[in-house]
Amino acid sequence: MSLLEVENLRVHLPGASGPVTVVDGVDFAVEEGQVFGLAGESGSGKTMSALAVLGLLPRRAQVEGRIIYRGRDLVALREREMRSVRGREIAMIFQDPMTSLHPMLTVGRALSEHLRQHLKLSRADAQRRAVELLEEVRIPDPEGSLRSYPHHFSGGMRQRIAIAVALICNPSIVIADEPTTALDVTVQAGILGLLDRLRQENGLSVLLITHDLGVMSSIADRVSVMYAGRIVESGATAEMMQRPRHPYTEGLLSALPHPEAGDERPLVAIPGSPPAPTDPPPGCRFHPRCTYAVDSCRTQVPQLVEVDARRLACPVDPLAVKV
Ligand SMILES: Nc1ncnc2c1ncn2[C@@H]1O[C@H](COP(=O)(O)OP(=O)(O)OP(=O)(O)O)[C@@H](O)[C@H]1O
Ligand SMILES: [Mg+2]
Repeated sequence: MSLLEVENLRVHLPGASGPVTVVDGVDFAVEEGQVFGLAGESGSGKTMSALAVLGLLPRRAQVEGRIIYRGRDLVALREREMRSVRGREIAMIFQDPMTSLHPMLTVGRALSEHLRQHLKLSRADAQRRAVELLEEVRIPDPEGSLRSYPHHFSGGMRQRIAIAVALICNPSIVIADEPTTALDVTVQAGILGLLDRLRQENGLSVLLITHDLGVMSSIADRVSVMYAGRIVESGATAEMMQRPRHPYTEGLLSALPHPEAGDERPLVAIPGSPPAPTDPPPGCRFHPRCTYAVDSCRTQVPQLVEVDARRLACPVDPLAVKV
């Protein structure tokens, strides 16, 4: 049994002319001590899937399906019960670390307020634990940093502090939504390294959301690629990067720079853009942009089926077409 299992998740948001389905039958699992990645272009429903797990969707959103965490279905929990899971069992870090850090509170104050509120620690214990947390995320001079405000730190250091805040209750899972998108490449590598170390040393599980398959390949054990609210391909990251089977995954990878010496392949962006969730095309939602599309793609919705230890929603295998 996986630590977190999401089954047939559907999210409908209120729209001008009725509910709009932005997550449409998504399944995935986060295993203990592993990094699971959700990838896909902007608007594919990654954030909405994550917010559904935490019960943080916009008001009037409707959720269907099951989100099983340690045997309990989070979809069925009341808000009061959900509060004992959110932040404590499953914590979240965002692209902009200022989302979790109050600009007017010193880092020490922010950490100890959370520590005292959630763990009922005394002032002195909270202070001690705050220093430990900053050491854990490798903030230089943890004691001095307690007296600084978030804006005194660089973006990368702020993201480390946001991770420290997420770790306060010693959660089993951290959901990281584009945690490195706003950072430059070397700082990005530092944050990914930190998440990887927390996974290895503390057995933390991570649900990593990113549109960047380069980031994904450096840290995720398994990955699902989403397109227009649906998963189109899932599998072990290394294999999927090496041998994408869905034309959309192949397209995302072709648009990625390959810095290895001698690799002069031109970058090719996928033509067109994803459909609006109010007006998805029939059949395979990717077909209008797919160079491999055949007639049935325009009318039949491809189901996710097991192919060589992979789940794939495409009747046309780009590898098969090429050879
Ligand atoms: N509050 C909202 N009300 C209505 N529609 C929304 C709302 N927030 C997001 N959406 C729509 O829901 C769909 C899925 O959005 P979501 O934020 O999950 O995408 P995403 O994959 O996280 O994209 P990104 O990479 O840009 O963060 C998009 O079409 C988006 O326009
Ligand atoms: Mg998002």
